Amino acid sequence: MADGFSLSDALPSGNSPNPSAPPGQGWPAAAWGNPPPAPGAFPAYPGPPGTYPGPPAAPGAYPGAPWPYPGAPAGPGPYPGAPGAFPGAPGAFPGAPAGPGPCPAPAQPPSGPGFGPSPPQEGRAASMKVPFELPLQAGLMPRMLITVTGTTNAKPNRFSLDFKRGHDIAFHFNPRFNEDNRKVIVCNSMLQNNWGKEERTAPRFPFEAGKPFKLQILCEVDHFKVAVNDAHLLQYNYREKRLNEITRLCIAGDISLTSVMPTMI
Ligand code: GAL
Repeated sequence: MADGFSLSDALPSGNSPNPSAPPGQGWPAAAWGNPPPAPGAFPAYPGPPGTYPGPPAAPGAYPGAPWPYPGAPAGPGPYPGAPGAFPGAPGAFPGAPAGPGPCPAPAQPPSGPGFGPSPPQEGRAASMKVPFELPLQAGLMPRMLITVTGTTNAKPNRFSLDFKRGHDIAFHFNPRFNEDNRKVIVCNSMLQNNWGKEERTAPRFPFEAGKPFKLQILCEVDHFKVAVNDAHLLQYNYREKRLNEITRLCIAGDISLTSVMPTMI
């Protein structure tokens, strides 16, 4: 893309596994000042909502962000219409989750007038219910980074993140912990009720039962980039290219959620 901005200009990309490389090779998190977490410990969580004061930088001003993205930089802005962060932990909470909405799981009753795209301002979520839906009012756009933190259940089978455009699933990210005794990450899209061709190219399976994780999805110009625990994992080319119409993120499955935070980088 000759638009003056491409993360790939500054960074290695691609999800081709390098069999000779250890996990995380090519994405030395420590080199970005963000060493990988100790086993069982979650890396220091990125900044509170107060670190998202302004609008995104103009495209020409983009300096080339590190990836995997270590957290909120000094000057990122909320994406337009951003509902803010949804950490389960108290202390940083500009908005409340809008509720599970039409995630494909038991609906939970809306609680109060804030249900829907405009989150209620009152209260804090003691915990984040799964399934969870994050409204993305302006849709996706390049440079939008969504950071999800949570913990897998003790005996997980699967979980999924679905970026949705209406009923369509533009991006289904689906770690499966036991598919014929194998762990695999399945990525796909469901367009007009039909699943497309699965992509199973992730070179490793970075999730562990009962362990916390940080999952980051960065919208690039023509693909999603996914990192887990500060190490690049895979990328997924956009099949649905109307990014601005991808207005919901649904998270479901065998995890507990700690935070879901959209930012612009
Ligand atoms: C199906 C599964 C869906 C979704 C899809 C992805 O087999 O039922 O939930 O994961 O695979 O291709």
